[in-house]
Amino acid sequence: MPRPVLIAPSILAADFSRLGEEVRAIDEAGCDWVHVDVMDGHFVPNISFGAIAVEAVRPVTKKVLDVHLMIAPCDPYLEQFAKAGADIITVHAEAGPHLDRSLQAIRDLGKKAGVSLNPGTPESVLDYVLDRLDLILVMSVNPGFGGQAFIPAVADKVRRIKAMIGDRNIDLEVDGGMTPQTAPLMAAAGANVFVAGSAVYTGEGVAGYRSNITAIRDAAEAAQKD
Ligand code: DX5
Ligand code: ZN
Repeated sequence: MPRPVLIAPSILAADFSRLGEEVRAIDEAGCDWVHVDVMDGHFVPNISFGAIAVEAVRPVTKKVLDVHLMIAPCDPYLEQFAKAGADIITVHAEAGPHLDRSLQAIRDLGKKAGVSLNPGTPESVLDYVLDRLDLILVMSVNPGFGGQAFIPAVADKVRRIKAMIGDRNIDLEVDGGMTPQTAPLMAAAGANVFVAGSAVYTGEGVAGYRSNITAIRDAAEAAQKD
């Protein structure tokens, strides 16, 4: 039985002059999670925002705040993001030498623990941490920016990770270039959570966002049935 399809719009693509309204809009438009892309200008060649953004949007929505830390080091900041209101905290396998310790620390903070893999990182990094995970976030673009082209080679990695997960209670999320055209490929490979920034935050307001979210969800669910 496939895991339910979940859509996690990335606020990186939102209108930051109206961030609260934009989060309220995707909530009303039926998103499942809110994906929060934290970038430090060191681990990735772009700077976005820190825990202050999680703090700002927390009171606006009850949806899961799916915080993607594209930062190195990550350990010194985990508590900040937990206190700010993150529900899931995802660190990059490439962010430092102590992935197992980072994942334990996230769970010790009472949050769900995720790991993200850049497109060039092999799934073998997961071998000894699978039982510390609630989420695996597979990058289908090189992290740092929204609006990039999806990397099709990632589909094989998703398939292999799905097999590694077995019957563990782990969500498999794909992030980058997700559209109604690309999400089905990833759903067929075993992913069930889809991050979408530019494919959701185009068009205007709740009605536009709802139709974008629904298009991705319907396409992914159809592919799960195939
Ligand atoms: C990239 C981020 C992604 C990105 C998704 O580093 O992790 O979440 O914002 O944006 P789109 O959906 O436009 O590729
Ligand atoms: Zn992301």
